[in-house]
Amino acid sequence: MYQRPEDLELFIRVARDLFQAKTLPEAGRQLAAKVFQRLDQPSDDGKRNSARYPACDLLASTLAPLLDDTSGLGDAARAIRILEPAIGWQRRTTGLNGSTDYVEKHVHGMICGPGGMESRYDVQLGFSLLAPHTRYPDHHHPPEEAYVLLTAGEFRQRDGDWFDPGIGGGLHNTRNSMHAMRSGTTPLLALWCLLV
Ligand SMILES: [Fe+2]
Repeated sequence: MYQRPEDLELFIRVARDLFQAKTLPEAGRQLAAKVFQRLDQPSDDGKRNSARYPACDLLASTLAPLLDDTSGLGDAARAIRILEPAIGWQRRTTGLNGSTDYVEKHVHGMICGPGGMESRYDVQLGFSLLAPHTRYPDHHHPPEEAYVLLTAGEFRQRDGDWFDPGIGGGLHNTRNSMHAMRSGTTPLLALWCLLV
């Protein structure tokens, strides 16, 4: 029987708190509460993605400024650093308006979810990492999702204005609504969770 590793349990505990921050919209907090409730039940089919991508090399330097942080953001950064070798990586290659080389300049780390460290299909918990000056494509998907930012970064929902929720802030994307994100002069790192 699958037993959840202690370092993953710690990450989930830390992320659970970050997604309940008052800086998130209420709908995001509510969604996250349901996701983490499901995560109370460990589950893994062992089908972890094995590929690694160029943007993975940015993770260490992106986490570095947070490693001495004494808040939950620092706890998350330290936990991700420990989990890194077990994370399942994936990239998006479709969607509109992405910057020319966005495929090479981004990566998603799946921690709990299909192909992730804990490969399962009822939820997704992981993060997006964008190199500087990268615009991720407009896209949408049936599950709603919530984000928490570990760095600066800008988001756009439907055809609204770009906005930066701020480090430790977040946002909520409703089901099937168009959204995008982009980095400025520094990498963008944001946690997300989805209820599938
Ligand atoms: Fe999305």
